[in-house]
Amino acid sequence: MPTHYIHTFGCQMNEHDSARMAERLAALGYEGTDSPEDADLILLNTCAIREKAEDKLFSALGRYRPLKARGAVIGVAGCVAQQEKDALFDRAGYVDFVLGPDQVAQVGEVVARVKAGERRVLATDWLDSQAYVFPSADPDAGVGSATAFVTAMKGCDNVCSFCVVPHTRGREQSRPYAEVIAEAIQLAKNGVRELTLIGQNVNSYAGGCTFAELLRRVGAVDGLRRIRFTTSHPQDLSDDLIAAYAPAEQGGEPKLMPHLHLPVQSGSDAVLERMRRRHTVAWYEERLAKLRAVRSDLALTSDFICGFPGETDDDFARTLGLVERVGYDNLFSFVYSARPHTSALRHEDEWGAVPQEARVERLRRLQELQMAVTQRLGDALVGTEVVVLVEGPSKDLGHGPRRIGRTPQNRPVHFASTEGVGALVRVRVTRATVQSLQGEQLAVVEAPPNVPAAARRRLPVLAPAIVAG
Ligand code: SAH
Ligand code: SF4
Ligand code: F3S
Repeated sequence: MPTHYIHTFGCQMNEHDSARMAERLAALGYEGTDSPEDADLILLNTCAIREKAEDKLFSALGRYRPLKARGAVIGVAGCVAQQEKDALFDRAGYVDFVLGPDQVAQVGEVVARVKAGERRVLATDWLDSQAYVFPSADPDAGVGSATAFVTAMKGCDNVCSFCVVPHTRGREQSRPYAEVIAEAIQLAKNGVRELTLIGQNVNSYAGGCTFAELLRRVGAVDGLRRIRFTTSHPQDLSDDLIAAYAPAEQGGEPKLMPHLHLPVQSGSDAVLERMRRRHTVAWYEERLAKLRAVRSDLALTSDFICGFPGETDDDFARTLGLVERVGYDNLFSFVYSARPHTSALRHEDEWGAVPQEARVERLRRLQELQMAVTQRLGDALVGTEVVVLVEGPSKDLGHGPRRIGRTPQNRPVHFASTEGVGALVRVRVTRATVQSLQGEQLAVVEAPPNVPAAARRRLPVLAPAIVAG
């Protein structure tokens, strides 16, 4: 049987696309392998969000190049593929095909064309909204997992001045809710207990109902216990969505977990305006206050960019101030990286580029502050009881079998346990670090789901995803 090795960079959208491509390749007879050296097909699913992410593609390509000598096919998919298109063939002449995110479902045909002798196959056209069909998960997807992603929408209609995503993923398009629900039902039947609805701007969903309604419809699926979603733009955080976070007795969606990732990027209005984020800091904090008023145990996380063009020391001090005031559970923070086709790149001279050393220094200070906040909030959890969804064996060292799972607020917890994937257990928190919690199991709240044996056939192997650099 021919084998494939899929190397995934970037966000959940890419991880999900890799899974769908593996399923399409399985239909052609390809099996996944863990070692690129043995693979007949090497596919890099790439990210263009920052320059570092792009550099990773080229260094990985360089590593895989020698494998061509024994006939391996090499393809580049994802956001760098869409951004560079046929220029990738000039930069790396040994690449056999380039496949954009809209063409994920066509991966089988493209590989077949390469196998038939065609060289440099380019598939980066956008499909218009009538023609586009969201690739559905394989009927057996999710078997053996407690958690799964489901695509709710794709693309992004925002115009944040730093961001390449509208260029690489195209216009927003929502997946009809009936398709989302059908996939959710199938995953739940396969034993999945927690679903994360994904999209670059998922809360602007418009697939036949509002996003808040979609959450409630997914909440009605039997067998599911937890719902999450990512990523959201503050501007699209509707009152309806806030209401879904209320406790069940006050009309909220009971399966919606008390965690929200709501990227803000900066704590300075002047910077937000140049970023074209379309809201002020005060407006953002008002939304958070409203959310916390309906759900007091809500954990918040966010994304920040350090050293955006024109960011002064005072702007950055405002970012630190916001982080102190909000008390985020965690942050993803990055140094600003100029991207092709963005308006921030065009305005860099006018606004004034921040020197690289200052960007890095600001990032260091922001991360140092956040680590202290994460630790403080974690310490406050020590001694409390949390319900954890078991995701699998823990890689943590300790005596005997250990499990890893997440709290409703999305903190990872390691604890001694023999419970199976998908069990819900009550755990007392015994220790907190910046990365995770340690705990001891008190009781099993719910045993793992029964998965029909028929569904347990061999599933595609995927190489582990790498978070965007
Ligand atoms: N759609 C999401 C963001 C997706 S990209 C949203 O709007 O929230 C994930 C994060 O990467 C962004 O939130 C931002 O913090 C960061 N990012 C995007 N472009 C960047 C750039 N040019 N330089 C540095 N960080 C960037
Ligand atoms: Fe990029 Fe802004 Fe769209 Fe997020 S909302 S993907 S940051 S353009
Ligand atoms: Fe995701 Fe990176 Fe593309 S973050 S949408 S893979 S640019």
